[in-house]
Amino acid sequence: MSGQRVRARAPGRVNLIGDHTDYAGGLAVPMAIDLETVVTGTRGGGRVHLRSANEPLPADVPLEVADPVAVDPPWARYLAGVVAEMRPPLGFTGEVSSTVPVGSGLSSSAALEVSVALALGYEGDPLGLARLCQRAEQRASGVPSGIMDQLTSILGRAGHALVIDFATLTVTEIGLPPDIEIVVVHSGQPRALAGSAYADRRRDVERAIAELGPLRDRPASDADTLTDPVLRRRARHVIGENARVLDFAGALARGELREAGALMVESHRSLRDDFEVSTPVLDELVARLLAAPGVLGARLTGAGFGGCVVALGEPGALAGEGWHVHASDGATVTVEGG
Ligand code: GLA
Repeated sequence: MSGQRVRARAPGRVNLIGDHTDYAGGLAVPMAIDLETVVTGTRGGGRVHLRSANEPLPADVPLEVADPVAVDPPWARYLAGVVAEMRPPLGFTGEVSSTVPVGSGLSSSAALEVSVALALGYEGDPLGLARLCQRAEQRASGVPSGIMDQLTSILGRAGHALVIDFATLTVTEIGLPPDIEIVVVHSGQPRALAGSAYADRRRDVERAIAELGPLRDRPASDADTLTDPVLRRRARHVIGENARVLDFAGALARGELREAGALMVESHRSLRDDFEVSTPVLDELVARLLAAPGVLGARLTGAGFGGCVVALGEPGALAGEGWHVHASDGATVTVEGG
């Protein structure tokens, strides 16, 4: 219906462990964070028109938009991706504001896609929404990204991390101990080459799967049967990372934060040495954070190639560092009047 006042919000996310596993049918433990994108406005008309407090130019997208990647300004491509995938019957006029830093690996684009889809009146189940927004992301960016970011933004729960099984797309909530500090620190390095290098990694993993079969629940030694040394390293990361995710979830549930932190450090090493998505700047930042008393773990988070590091610490250990984030509830929408 037109004339309704709509407010939709969707959080960013941080991934505690399990990177480059989602498109391999693996496992990860992300959480939605208390940095979010909010879309407010009114449904109606034949275009989606949004102004953003963070962008000089508005997004203005016709409902029949054909090619999201050709849309300008660039931030409007994510809206265009949602419109192209959703084909809503009515347009929208309003505003978007966001506290999720852009280009940091905290899923500002997923937060935008999910909040826009809800503002436009998405009807359906959460998994359908996540899939729609994942397709929007892929069309807008040209990057064959997985579904972790959208799923987390939608299904997040305050005080909890999510254990996501990407083979079955099932999500289990895991309570975070209160005496834990989770901090995201930006490396200052923009995520250069993230798109093409991400696509390369995904292709490597798919080639490894074509040779070995699904990488889930396999002994690490299976990776060694691959003849190509690059694929061997990629498979070793994915197999090892899935095992670390399970151990991490267990450690967190038992409140064994030292063990959880040590697994994050192993994850970073694997992303650096076997998956080759770290950078010297990220490595140095991880090392610096780990050197501080009371810091239990640190690792790059998200795709890598720059962006952010996530660290786990005892209360106060990370004072003065980055964004202190808290697990938050997933996306919501409210509609008034009409
Ligand atoms: C990006 C993608 C996700 C996931 C991570 C790496 O954030 O959007 O789907 O693949 O990288 O874990």
